[in-house]
Amino acid sequence: MSANQQQPKLIIHGGAGSSLKGKGGIDAVRQSLHKIVEEVYALLLAGGKASEAVVKGCQLLEDEPRFNAGTGSVLQSDGQIRMSAALMDGESQRFSGVINVSRLKNPINLAKELQKSDDRVLSDYGAAELLRELNTPVYNPLTDLRLQEWMEERKGNFQKDMAGVIAEGELIEESSSGRGTIGVVALDSQGCLAAATSTGGKGFEKIGRVSDSAMPAGNYATSKAAVSCTGIGEDIIDECLAARIVVRVTDGLSLAEATERSFIEAKENQRDFGAIAINATGAIVWGKTCELLIAAYHNGKQVGDTLDWTGEELTDFTQ
Ligand code: GLY
Repeated sequence: MSANQQQPKLIIHGGAGSSLKGKGGIDAVRQSLHKIVEEVYALLLAGGKASEAVVKGCQLLEDEPRFNAGTGSVLQSDGQIRMSAALMDGESQRFSGVINVSRLKNPINLAKELQKSDDRVLSDYGAAELLRELNTPVYNPLTDLRLQEWMEERKGNFQKDMAGVIAEGELIEESSSGRGTIGVVALDSQGCLAAATSTGGKGFEKIGRVSDSAMPAGNYATSKAAVSCTGIGEDIIDECLAARIVVRVTDGLSLAEATERSFIEAKENQRDFGAIAINATGAIVWGKTCELLIAAYHNGKQVGDTLDWTGEELTDFTQ
């Protein structure tokens, strides 16, 4: 790396929730997150752009049935999967996304395709048309576990207001239910930032409900900072969390201060979510109001994660 190059930084998340019970579950989730971090970080070290890295990270997380995005997405109240995803390139400061798209493997690929379009956010019908134009193969992201989960909920007439975030090989226990999304934030060797986020939604929601993941509330990046959120979409929208943190950094706060202030307000408002963030100087920060944020990072020296984190609710992983 030459003297004028930036040390790349990376953080990914696989959702937010309450504590993950069962060590087997934690180990498997950790292994999966670390493998993805290593693969995406290698791309950044090889000179890959932040926007390419976050798309790659999202593809890998979408392909991992454990997480609620792409394969393994939760079902909505009518038993259908509708997914949402967004990409924001901090260099061009362009946001693109798809809302409630079905029958494809990687919703993030559509968000990437839309970066070059004049019309950059498409909902269900338009996204389906784009899929046809691109000749994208039809794919069913449904897993047996998610179907079983939905059937169980149907028996109880959908009393639960959301599905579990992590599929752990057996039906989700109440203790591990959560707020599913996946997201990736990266700083590349040229000092450019990007954020990408993808979700199957809350699970069991009304048809047509729109997630925060394909809004600047849930996914936002500029040349100063980039943020991806996870948690209850409505709470994230009400706080406009990702944009709120980035704007505070733009106005002069450090990333840690911007995140801390935003999470103090969120706590006062009894919000339920988490966020991962990186700024242009390479600070890596995450925050949460929920019990657990399922995240892993590479800070240029080592890979780490938040899975056993019992400390403060806001942590700076820069060093
Ligand atoms: N944050 C994901 C959702 O609520 O849809």
